[in-house]
Amino acid sequence: LSDEGKQMIEAHNLLRKFYHHLLVNTKEGQHALEYLLERGFDLESIERFQIGYALDSWDFDYKFLTNKNFQPALLEKAGLIIKREQDGSYFDRFRDRIMFPIADRHGETIAFSGRSLGAQSPKYLNSPETAIFNKSKTLYNYHLARPTMRKLQQAILFEGFADVIAADRSGVLNGIATMGTSLTEEHVSTLKKNVQVVTICYDSDSAGIEAAFRAGNMLQEANLQVNVATMPDGMDPDDYVKRYGAEKFRNDIIHSNMTFMSFKMLYYRKGKNLQNEGDRLLYIEKVLQEVSHLENLVEKDFYIRQLAEEFNLSLDALKEQERQYSQSTH
Ligand code: UTP
Ligand code: MN
Ligand code: MN
Ligand code: MN
Ligand code: MN
Repeated sequence: LSDEGKQMIEAHNLLRKFYHHLLVNTKEGQHALEYLLERGFDLESIERFQIGYALDSWDFDYKFLTNKNFQPALLEKAGLIIKREQDGSYFDRFRDRIMFPIADRHGETIAFSGRSLGAQSPKYLNSPETAIFNKSKTLYNYHLARPTMRKLQQAILFEGFADVIAADRSGVLNGIATMGTSLTEEHVSTLKKNVQVVTICYDSDSAGIEAAFRAGNMLQEANLQVNVATMPDGMDPDDYVKRYGAEKFRNDIIHSNMTFMSFKMLYYRKGKNLQNEGDRLLYIEKVLQEVSHLENLVEKDFYIRQLAEEFNLSLDALKEQERQYSQSTH
């Protein structure tokens, strides 16, 4: 790491400790702490994830860090302060937000995401890409989750920070999340180095379902075993834990996951009436196309038999159709 990179990390680490102190120990941070406790975060998680609070001020971070002899130009490159066009003066990027530090694989803080307390947009304000922070390579909570991921040979992939933290609080310690972006090939290869199984646990809204399809296909392409854990309609994991508690989350959601294939089959059934011949044929075609992408022959056989049984079809015809799809896609 360059000298500049090291200084950027040092500035982030100092600011992380300061934000955390403001949240936990000061009057200025009290409303933010109350907001978090109200949402179901506990003090133990706030400590473990080093959550903090950025003051409602235009120059507090600027003063705090320049007083410690950091150069404004460096802090700007690190994404912590922003230069005004008009007069070249600086202002803090993060103001009046709950601060989630983003760590690298060693646990050093390399970026922040700040959640607004009210309805201000954006809901989460993220650090920009910098010399030390690359969104498409970073997984939230990777440094804490890695030992458990390796031990269990499984990672749980969430959409958001709050989901990872709610899962952790529930005893699910192998959760990670992307940084508000879709899963990338770099993320997939990081996961591939650590685990055999990835369980996708995204929000149960249309964006989450779409994203689960994309992520699942990428993980499957990398020969990872993919499962999907789904919430009741419209909920996300952090809502679920708050409403139903840790034990129900572990048993009814995380441990009751289904294969990626079953998830897709359920999805294709939605909005179709399988008593109707046209809908039924469309569904069977969709499933056969999905089966044609599977690498594992035993799995292929399993799902084809399932189709044959459910719709009382000849195995030979299904197998022949699947072969044709396979040839046209591979
Ligand atoms: P969600 O909209 O599902 O938010 O976005 P959430 O995690 O449930 O947040 P809470 O519970 O309301 O606090 C999922 C993830 O997308 C990214 C964040 O990483 C968030 O956790 N995101 C979302 C952003 O980066 N910016 C945004 O404005 C919104
Ligand atoms: Mn502390
Ligand atoms: Mn979402
Ligand atoms: Mn969500
Ligand atoms: Mn949420």
